[in-house]
This record gives sequence, structure tokens and C-alpha cells, in this order.
Amino acid sequence: MTAHVGKVLVTGAGSGIGAGIASVLASRGWRVAVNDLDTDLAQALAARIGGIAIAGDVGTHAADIVTRAAQKLEGLTGLVNNAGIHRRAPLASVTEAQLNDVYRVNLQAAILGSQAALAFFASGGAIVNTASIAAYTPQMQTGLYSAAKAGIVAFTAQAAVEWGPLNVRVNAVAPGMVRTAMAESVYADATLHAARVAMVPLRRIGTPEDIGNAVAFLLSADASYITGQTVIIDGGFTHTVIDHLPHPMIAAGNN
Ligand SMILES: NC(=O)c1ccc[n+]([C@@H]2O[C@H](COP(=O)([O-])OP(=O)(O)OC[C@H]3O[C@@H](n4cnc5c(N)ncnc54)[C@H](O)[C@@H]3O)[C@@H](O)[C@H]2O)c1
Repeated sequence: MTAHVGKVLVTGAGSGIGAGIASVLASRGWRVAVNDLDTDLAQALAARIGGIAIAGDVGTHAADIVTRAAQKLEGLTGLVNNAGIHRRAPLASVTEAQLNDVYRVNLQAAILGSQAALAFFASGGAIVNTASIAAYTPQMQTGLYSAAKAGIVAFTAQAAVEWGPLNVRVNAVAPGMVRTAMAESVYADATLHAARVAMVPLRRIGTPEDIGNAVAFLLSADASYITGQTVIIDGGFTHTVIDHLPHPMIAAGNN
């Protein structure tokens, strides 16, 4: 039997970025538990990458999902808190139900899931949380998504300090624009797609595998002295803010 480099649960991994993360980890020798709300998606990906499926809602059952994964995998050395949702609404009219949904899935699940994972990290472990560039640069109409993702950045740093002595590292990735179902309506429109590509210094939209590669590094022994960090993976996009200012050179076509 092949020895695995570790045993990891990836939440929200039936599609999108989570599926990219789970696939990259499996290709690097991890034994992967694939969690998703959608049982069919979780089972299909688990079958494709030789992992196991753990269906369920991390917004309400995070600790239970981690426990079931650790039991089925017979141990756990890694956790990727990736599941996340948007609820479009301006802050002025965001409802308590929308607030609770966004908070529970994007932030509370990562905290309660990580707590549960600690009990299985027999001789240490590594956690990676999925934040977003929205943690640093809010966006109109995203309600409390930005605040929840900023909470993930702060939780990542806090947990790194508290759990470092237990040999548990905690880091995060903050994706920029990545083509997944979450924003497919934008990328399906060729004009909008091209306009977005033009705003990214690397001149392309990110892929789930781009994020998976960074997560694999942060979980690996190569990152053994890195903890509490959030790595922005956006093709350079968030460094372009000043370039959006109108300027005579740009008006003259000399940018
Ligand atoms: N796509 C982007 O551009 C982008 C950018 C920055 C951050 N992110 C973050 O990356 C993560 C993944 O985003 P995505 O674009 O792949 O989203 P997605 O909507 O394409 O896929 C998310 C997956 O998670 C599952 N899921 C949703 N809620 C769940 C829950 N409560 N429990 C278990 N599974 C659940 C869904 O069924 C789906 O398969 C999220 O945390 C998101 O906030 C995405």
C-alpha cells in the first residue's frame, strides 16, 4: 500500500476552488476526505481522486464533519476550511438570516472545525483557511462577506499563536478572481471576462489549481516555519488600485 504524506479534510470541495485543492492534494500523495453540501458532488470527486466523501453542511455541523472524516480516514493531519458562500445585499438592508448564513459558513465553520481537528492532530497538524481579497478590499453588494473573510484572516493569526506550541500551523489563502460557479455569470460573458483579464497584471483569471498549489505548499513540510499568514493569490490584481485613478498620461493613451 502507498504511504500517504498525510490525511486531510477539504470542506466545500465538491466543486470550484475546493475541488481544485482536493485534486492537487491527492496528486501530491495526500489521502483526502471530500466534504460538500451536495452528496453527489462529494462522492463523484472522491471517486475521481481516490478519496472518501463526507457529505454535510459545515455551517451547522462543522465539528461533526471533521470527526467523521478523521474516523473514516483513521487519523487527520490536515484541514482545509474552504467552504464559503455569498449573499448579495447592501449592508443597509442585509437581513439577520443572510448575516447568519454568511457568518456560519464563512467563519464559524472554520473555527469550530479547527477546534474539532485539534483533538485528532496527535503529533501536530496544519490548517489552511480560504479567505478572499475581499477581506482587504470590500466590494459593493457583498453584505457581510468581506467582514467574515477579514475574520478568517484574524482567526488564522490568532490560532497560529495559540496552537503553535501544539505543533499546529494555521495559514490562509486569499484568492482574487477565480473562475468557479460562484462567479460564472461574469465569466460566461466574453466581454466581461476580457475586461476582467485586462485588469490583472498576469493577464488571466485564476484557476482552482492555482489555489490548490498554494494550499499544498502551506500544508507541506516545505512550509514548516510558516504560520499565521494569509497568502494573497490574485495575479497581482490588488496592487493595481492606484492605476485606476484617472491621469493625463492615461487619457493621452500613454499609460
Ligand atoms: N471564486 C472566487 O473568485 C473566489 C475568490 C475569493 C475567495 N473565494 C472563496 O473560495 C471558496 C470556494 O469558493 P468557490 O468559488 O469554489 O465557490 P463555489 O460556490 O463555486 O463552490 C463552493 C462549494 O462549496 C459547497 N458548499 C457551499 N456551502 C457549503 C456548506 N455549508 N457546507 C459544505 N459545503 C458547502 C458548494 O456546494 C460548492 O460545491 C469560498 O470560501 C469563497 O468565499 C472564491
